[in-house]
Amino acid sequence: MTYLETAAQFYREVAETPQVGLCCVQSTPLQLPGLKVPLAMQEMNYGCGTTVHLTELANQPTVLYVGVGGGLEALQFAYFSRRPGAVIAVEPVAAMREAAARNLAIAAQENPWFDTSFVEICAGDAFNLPVADAAVDVVAQNCLFNIFEPEDLTRALKEAFRVLKPGGRLQMSDPIATRPIPLHLQQDERLRAMCLSGALTYQEYTQLIVNAGFGQVEIRARRPYRLLDAVTYNLEENLLLESLDSVSFKVDIPEDGACIFTGKTAIYAGTEPLFDDSAGHLLQRGIPAAVCDKTAAKLAALKPTEIMITDSTWHYNGGGCC
Ligand SMILES: C[S@@+](CC[C@H](N)C(=O)[O-])C[C@H]1O[C@@H](n2cnc3c(N)ncnc32)[C@H](O)[C@@H]1O
Repeated sequence: MTYLETAAQFYREVAETPQVGLCCVQSTPLQLPGLKVPLAMQEMNYGCGTTVHLTELANQPTVLYVGVGGGLEALQFAYFSRRPGAVIAVEPVAAMREAAARNLAIAAQENPWFDTSFVEICAGDAFNLPVADAAVDVVAQNCLFNIFEPEDLTRALKEAFRVLKPGGRLQMSDPIATRPIPLHLQQDERLRAMCLSGALTYQEYTQLIVNAGFGQVEIRARRPYRLLDAVTYNLEENLLLESLDSVSFKVDIPEDGACIFTGKTAIYAGTEPLFDDSAGHLLQRGIPAAVCDKTAAKLAALKPTEIMITDSTWHYNGGGCC
């Protein structure tokens, strides 16, 4: 059996017998006015953060959702794009497709605005998405891509890039590891399926996103996720996993490299009212300007005593220039 088959078997089990709290962080699902999330759906919240970012959901975008789980985020996306086929949910495990369809039917009874036709559940997987090139505005996946080994993750990211329209967004939430996960855990297929041992480090994860062609990445949240303790997991030291929410844009990669925004700002503290780096960044004295990490490093090197760079907040939501 391959590790992907082990994952499929695991998700068949948790579709048939829900495991409350399998992946989720200690927060309630995103609440929205007039949205009622059925209990059965809440119990199958197998995501480790959220991929539903309100700022990306204007104008009823078409969303391709990979790995539907119990359908929670498909319902949340449908809230913003209320039309038939607005959300295409791709899922290889038949039992999970059936569970999601059941939960969405309950959602239709509990939410007058929702019709099950808004979410089209399709058989398929992350490596062969059943839509044409440049067909959708948003691709979303929550707590799935971390299961993939790096070559498969690269394939899945390239496939997401293929189906996105120019300017489209890849909205993801995944565990990342604060240091490389030792091989004996990486090779444990069941732990990998449970989103506990396939995570890459932040650097590796963001590099693979950029390698797939995304020119801009924004980190929307980063928080503690799970602790792999030394005793249970046969480690020299405890290993913290974090959950990372990101939005990656299908835009050209600038010549000097992709822009990754982590919430840093640059603040000019020199004697002039304005500082212009002649590369598109204008800093008003004393006023923080959001910058990507690449620009932050360049500005710091250019004017080490006159420009202060603030730390990453790991919560960036637009407004920067790069
Ligand atoms: C950790 S669960 C996350 C479910 C959902 N995103 C959520 O937030 O509740 C992973 C989901 O991906 C599905 N899956 C597993 N292998 C897949 C693959 N190769 N391609 C697409 N989906 C897959 C699983 O069956 C399951 O529904």
